[in-house]
Amino acid sequence: MTSPALAGALSVPHGELRALFPSLGQQVDGRDAVFLDGPGGTQVPLSVMEAMSAYLSRDNANTGGSFITSQRTDAAVASARAETARFLNAARSEEIVFGQNSTSLWFALSRALARTWRAGDEIIVTSLDHDANITPWTLAARDAGATVRTWEFRTEDCTLRLEGLDALLTDRTRHIAFTHASNAVGTIPDVAGAIRRVRAKSPGATVFIDAVHHTPHNPVDVRALDCDFLGCSAYKFCGPHLGILYGKYEHLDRLEAYKVRPSYAKPPGKWETGTQSFESISGLRAALAYLESVGGMERIHEYELGLVRAFLEQARAVPDLTIHGLTDPARAGERTPTFGVTLEGWNASALAAQLGAQGIFVWDGHFYAVDVIDRLGLKDRGGLVRIGFAHYNTHEEVTRTIGALKELAERGPAA
Ligand SMILES: Cc1ncc(COP(=O)(O)O)c(C=O)c1O
Repeated sequence: MTSPALAGALSVPHGELRALFPSLGQQVDGRDAVFLDGPGGTQVPLSVMEAMSAYLSRDNANTGGSFITSQRTDAAVASARAETARFLNAARSEEIVFGQNSTSLWFALSRALARTWRAGDEIIVTSLDHDANITPWTLAARDAGATVRTWEFRTEDCTLRLEGLDALLTDRTRHIAFTHASNAVGTIPDVAGAIRRVRAKSPGATVFIDAVHHTPHNPVDVRALDCDFLGCSAYKFCGPHLGILYGKYEHLDRLEAYKVRPSYAKPPGKWETGTQSFESISGLRAALAYLESVGGMERIHEYELGLVRAFLEQARAVPDLTIHGLTDPARAGERTPTFGVTLEGWNASALAAQLGAQGIFVWDGHFYAVDVIDRLGLKDRGGLVRIGFAHYNTHEEVTRTIGALKELAERGPAA
């Protein structure tokens, strides 16, 4: 399944691009599988698997030794760190920290930051976020005796309005954590605008951005944003399971990390506990090279905008389908190609199961965005069905998915 009309948006023809992914060729009951599960973890090109295998078969060692495999390991980590800094536009590679996953890195950072918070300080989180960008901060606030305030999203269109933030920012605000894109409904808030307001009204606050769902779909520029910290996960952008934390060097240097005594005193080493997954770090480097080879994040974003518009336009033909979030194709740039939907009369898991049986892979439930499901009143319906397109998906897959939804909507749920 190729998209000749849109092949120009990426720098390789779409059919060739898809052929780089061994998993995409699978079938379910004689029909091509449609991978719309990307927000939970994207598929992986062969080059990433080969890089991981090459590391383990040739370079496998711990770091810092006076022998060739250890030196190659040091070089692999240094090169992946430099490439990741370039990917996020960080000022230096020492601002990039690797870890098991984003959640673990953020818990570690929250613990270190909380040592600087005092009773009466204020912390802001949102109701649009994945819980990995809520609970690390609320537990740290509890430990420090700080007050937690919540920036609520508008349930009508699942957007975070800057006016809502204005009402929360004070000179006691010490930390604010919010998302670059919602993993449940796809909304991209005005992150740069929000950070400008934080700097103006709460100059003493640090800003943490969850870019886990944003990085697979859009360029990320930590310097243009002027955030203090930002997190993302390689397995969401065609890499292996690995967490990445960006922090401004001054913060990573100044804060006291929880670490064992003989490990590095300076960033990034002081934040990297234990032995890293060097094979995953090698795979990350290959994933970044892959993204560059198909045109880079600007072009991936352009291609995906076409998928967003096509889905929103075609979805109008599905009776009783609700897309929770932005639905105006003219505002396609304010969302990712991730659609949180409900179909009247259907429980989310029943609908996902019907699609799964047809070879269309979608997630259902809360995806750890528990407050989103709560505020949308969807707890009793099994949450949302999440239809998540990635740049390897095609327009034909949009049409097939809409067709399947339409048929299920017309048929109604089984008794
Ligand atoms: C938006 C968002 N933030 C954070 C996370 C947590 O990432 P990790 O699985 O690397 O801990 C996820 C994972 O699904 C996510 O989608």
